[in-house]
Amino acid sequence: MKTLAVAMQKGGVGKSWLTRSLSVAASLEGLNVLVIDMDSQQSTVAWSERRKAETPLVQFSTERELPAILKRANDAGCDVVFIDTPPARSTETPAAVDAADMVLIPCTPDIEAFEQIARTERLARLAGKPAFAVLTMTQPSGKSEQDIGQEIFASLNLDMALPSIARLKAHRDAAREGKTATETEPGGRAAQEIAALWAFIKERANIGTDAVVHKGKSAKVRK
Ligand SMILES: Nc1ncnc2c1ncn2[C@@H]1O[C@H](COP(=O)(O)OP(=O)(O)OP(=O)(O)O)[C@@H](O)[C@H]1O
Ligand SMILES: [Mg+2]
Repeated sequence: MKTLAVAMQKGGVGKSWLTRSLSVAASLEGLNVLVIDMDSQQSTVAWSERRKAETPLVQFSTERELPAILKRANDAGCDVVFIDTPPARSTETPAAVDAADMVLIPCTPDIEAFEQIARTERLARLAGKPAFAVLTMTQPSGKSEQDIGQEIFASLNLDMALPSIARLKAHRDAAREGKTATETEPGGRAAQEIAALWAFIKERANIGTDAVVHKGKSAKVRK
């Protein structure tokens, strides 16, 4: 089982959206996926309730419950766990980073986000966890934001996951139905970017897809 924490101190950079999009992409490949929402706002739990689908399984957890939930997920044969974390300083984010095999740090292409990414990068580094910045909500045309992001991340010795993800209406429209663009517009640009990003992360996190044997089943990790 691999655990991926999605963390960034700044709010509204796409943590929850990235968690949902990647978790659906992984589920559609037949992987057993658990999403843990550690944000007390529980927006990913709410998305899952709108979704009315069995997969991916989404569960709220506090920092105290996290180790037991992860152990149950592992025992139940879960392949991948995504942990959505709250913004700002919290006790949940360090716990998620500690529990993770890899940290994904979504970051929008603006100075406020660039200024705050160093704190989250530091958290991952001090915990000894590999981390990747994911540039989100870029202008749909042009590569300049990606180049600027890459330069800023490189100055922090932080690798950037590719591709960066454009700000597209398809993502917002899908969220309303508790879905992701991968499901609502499978051939579209939003879905293609998510598929390519998931392929990048899978390779870096060494997540195999031999687990497709689970197809159709969901891990029984509820209490
Ligand atoms: N690539 C994108 N294109 C269009 N809209 C996006 C994209 N990524 C995220 N959004 C939208 O931006 C908003 C903020 O995203 P999200 O809630 O995922 O951020 P967050 O980092 O989890 O915020 P918080 O810190 O408050 O938990 C949401 O309305 C989401 O639907
Ligand atoms: Mg969120």
